[in-house]
Amino acid sequence: AALRPLSGRRVLVTSGPTHEPIDPVRYLANRSSGRQGHAIAAAFARAGAHVTLVSGPVTIPAPEGVDLVAVETAREMLAAVEAALPVDIAVLAAAVADWRTAEEAERKLKKTQTGAPALTLVENPDILATLSRHEMRPRLVVGFAAETNDVVAHARAKLQRKGCDFILANDVSPATGIMGGTENAVQLIGPASHEEWPRMSKEAVAERLVAQLGSELATKM
Ligand code: C5P
Repeated sequence: AALRPLSGRRVLVTSGPTHEPIDPVRYLANRSSGRQGHAIAAAFARAGAHVTLVSGPVTIPAPEGVDLVAVETAREMLAAVEAALPVDIAVLAAAVADWRTAEEAERKLKKTQTGAPALTLVENPDILATLSRHEMRPRLVVGFAAETNDVVAHARAKLQRKGCDFILANDVSPATGIMGGTENAVQLIGPASHEEWPRMSKEAVAERLVAQLGSELATKM
């Protein structure tokens, strides 16, 4: 049990970006390498959990020992997340596109004399908020916040708005080199707690998060 503290537990992790098609060759997306989410899925698997990793399009391989569900759009990601329930813990690390085009053009949009096409955008479902208020809500729901300023204040507001238990906030200002890099500097923010972790590898962040959520789950039983 000491070696595999989460054996028998079911865990869901989202990772990577979503791609929202504009036409057959173009899409809208957020930047995300999937490195942090994939590292978290790997750490949960090493801790003995049964892990479903729902990932948008990434170039890195799925970690060993996880069930990968590959998706493209936010709507597909939400469907895959709901299909993975029930789980004990969910960590939603995906960079979901907030908007998609109202309609996907069936054919490639062409350049015309009249200038650029006007894209009408509609809001995507908020997967974290939906899961946090789901009738099969996992006991622990963790969201991410990529911020460039006022990290803690924004994370606290997000915790409230989304209804999750923790927010793992990171500063993604370009100067940090975190975006797409191998290291992360995060703060774990709960309703009444706030921890600032030293800068460390994304794998180390994952290990520490998994250890913490494991003991959190044990005290919640
Ligand atoms: O609101 P914001 O996108 O900054 O919130 C980030 C957190 O919410 C992340 O955990 C992300 O995975 C999640 N999210 C989501 N569905 C969305 C937008 C964000 O699950 N449509």
